[in-house]
Amino acid sequence: MEIDIQLLPCAPQPQLLAHRVVVVIDILRSTSVIIQAMSQGALEIIPVTTVEDAFKMAKAFPPGFILLGGERESKNIPGFDLGNSPREYVAKRVKGKKLILTTTNGTKAFHLVSSGKEILVGSFFNIGAVAQRCLELGRDLLIFPSGDEGNLSLEDTICGGMLIELIKRRGGKPISLTDACECAKILYKKFGDNLLEAFHLSHHGKELISRGYEEDLAYCARIDAIPLVPIFRDGVIRVK
Ligand code: MLT
Repeated sequence: MEIDIQLLPCAPQPQLLAHRVVVVIDILRSTSVIIQAMSQGALEIIPVTTVEDAFKMAKAFPPGFILLGGERESKNIPGFDLGNSPREYVAKRVKGKKLILTTTNGTKAFHLVSSGKEILVGSFFNIGAVAQRCLELGRDLLIFPSGDEGNLSLEDTICGGMLIELIKRRGGKPISLTDACECAKILYKKFGDNLLEAFHLSHHGKELISRGYEEDLAYCARIDAIPLVPIFRDGVIRVK
């Protein structure tokens, strides 16, 4: 198995992805939100890239049938039902519901890697379960951190480094890593025992604190809290 990690969130060449498993990561906060919402009974999540697309798509459903969630500049979007704090996505709000989600980086990332063989949703919440799934699939892997407005994201890269470490530790078979993977592993080794230190250091972590979402940092640092692996296929995220 060959593992690579795309440190900057630009579109990989489709032919590179065709036979690969892809893991999309956006710790702060959209993949954490997706895994949280699915664990609270949301039926499916449709990630879209623009607010306009979200409103247009919602019109295709009967009123109240679908919820709109997401953020711009980390803030709630006027006319939407939910923001982008995972703490909002509780059973009382999302159980049995379909959601349309739009965020700055995370929802875009799914569409950048949509030609992947199997696209998994990853965060610290489900990192052990994702590692297990990657090993079961036994295919070459591309880890895709969603980044921070086109820049490298520290928290997403550390999560990628942890995933690499877990797969290597559990794999029991030869795994080849790129230099980008070695860099991610080094960051995980440095911050793995104190994720919150990294979140407070990161550009987006600081933004969230300045915008009043400090509690989300601790919430998103919980490792293996939700061992389920949502899959993005044909434009929709579901749990098998
Ligand atoms: C994103 O997708 O960029 C993030 O989830 C943004 C945020 O939640 O602040």
